[in-house]
Amino acid sequence: MFGKDKQRQRDLFESERSFRLLVEGVADYALYMLDPGGIVTSWNIGAQRIKGYSPDEILGRHFSNFYTDVDRANGKPARALRIAEEQGRYEEEGWRVRKNGTFFWASVVIDPIREGEELVGFAKITRDITERREAELKLAQMQAQLAESQKLDALGQLTGGVAHDFNNLLMIISGSVHTLKKGIEDDPRRQRALIAIEAATRRGAALTSQLLTFARRQSVNPEPVNVAERIDAVRDVLDTGVGGAVTLQFDVDRGAWPVIVDVAELETALVNLVINARDAMPTGGVITIAARNQTLDEETRAGDYVAISVEDTGVGIAPDVMSRIFDPFFTTKPVGKGTGLGLSQVHGFAHQAGGTIRVSSEIGKGTKIAILLPRTDVALSTENAHVAAGGGSGTVLLVDDNPDVASVSASLLEQLGYTVRKVADAEAALREIERDGIDLVFSDIVMPGKMDGLGLARHLKETRPGLPILLATGYSDAAVNVRGDFPILRKPYEIHQLSEAIAKLPK
Ligand SMILES: Nc1ncnc2c1ncn2[C@@H]1O[C@H](COP(=O)(O)OP(=O)(O)OP(=O)(O)O)[C@@H](O)[C@H]1O
Ligand SMILES: [Mg+2]
Repeated sequence: MFGKDKQRQRDLFESERSFRLLVEGVADYALYMLDPGGIVTSWNIGAQRIKGYSPDEILGRHFSNFYTDVDRANGKPARALRIAEEQGRYEEEGWRVRKNGTFFWASVVIDPIREGEELVGFAKITRDITERREAELKLAQMQAQLAESQKLDALGQLTGGVAHDFNNLLMIISGSVHTLKKGIEDDPRRQRALIAIEAATRRGAALTSQLLTFARRQSVNPEPVNVAERIDAVRDVLDTGVGGAVTLQFDVDRGAWPVIVDVAELETALVNLVINARDAMPTGGVITIAARNQTLDEETRAGDYVAISVEDTGVGIAPDVMSRIFDPFFTTKPVGKGTGLGLSQVHGFAHQAGGTIRVSSEIGKGTKIAILLPRTDVALSTENAHVAAGGGSGTVLLVDDNPDVASVSASLLEQLGYTVRKVADAEAALREIERDGIDLVFSDIVMPGKMDGLGLARHLKETRPGLPILLATGYSDAAVNVRGDFPILRKPYEIHQLSEAIAKLPK
């Protein structure tokens, strides 16, 4: 009997000892006890590791030392103990303070310990989950970014589809107007009507163009560009655009790297940003246009970029507005003042060029919007071919599947002095060329049939290397494939643009 008791006592001692060793040895959790008043009565190695106190520094002190000043002032420690006592458990995530004053994000559990009915203290388990919290926040942020870019992609596909058809319509209107204008020189009323139609068509073309840029289907003429020079070129336009109360200031690095963009798109983007900046400063202020080289070293984006930024001292952008500024047709401006396409264009432009946009804004202080464009190694072309438009002669083979567009284009070509032969697809074009007498091929890119305009152009380059080819498109993903192999005219075009494009063709 006596021996058995002794054995049992030894077993109990052993199991208590190993339990104590276990608790003391757990390094990833702070496990410790409090007396009913919140005084620390035991301390394990995990507690020391996480909170930084050795046992003799903390035993006998109150556990509210682990809380932030604000939490202490609000009575949070006492409340935690009361809840644990009343509800049998207290659980929380929140900021706690280490001995050295730094904060960590803690997962906290407090359990009441009772002997019979009587509360004898609390068991406290604390984990440092700062890293997990940071990872979660980062993940949430990335998910939000992804959702945003998916939304803009979907909108882009929708708008791209609609806008593309508009360009053919506008081409027909603007071309027909040009033809109608002839012969009514002595009828001012009709002249005025036609001028109004012309203006509306231009406005329609500009809007469609912004939509297409947003849909990233616009950049048909990307070329290596010197950013500083391009900014110089639009200086006057911008100056007259901002008006008297606003000062326009430039801070452009002359050594900014070259980038590959469509010049017209870049200029439109700049104008859009500057107009927004002006609108944000109804009582005047300063707009700073800057360009500088910037090397990014981020997880999702690394490399050399040129940052072109427009900064204002205006009203700023409210957080709830911020998430929507790139949406097409989102505007906070009164009806007739804003279409909500400016930043959509800027967004599409930057992304199509392989870049991105960064926005920072403070309410009442101002806004800075930067377009980041990737640096290119492609050399800048030195000669800036500007050929005067002259009268044409010779026979043009016009290839277009849309009969209305074809007859408008033919009429413009004829007005320029060319003889025109029309065909509706690439196969017919090849047959026509066999018959000889063609001096120039002018073809739409997007066409039904086995061969589109680009296929035709490539085929002719092989078989008829001397024959000049001009392509036209209202939009096209195909245009992106052309990549400077062939000159492209953007629809809708006016007669002087057609004339210039033909004059620039390599002979
Ligand atoms: N610099 C800025 N400061 C304050 N708010 C701005 C700024 N730029 C843009 N915004 C806000 O973003 C909205 C969308 O701008 P966006 O350029 O796309 O359209 P818009 O200027 O309203 O119209 P549009 O450019 O088509 O004439 C604006 O209506 C405005 O609320
Ligand atoms: Mg705008």
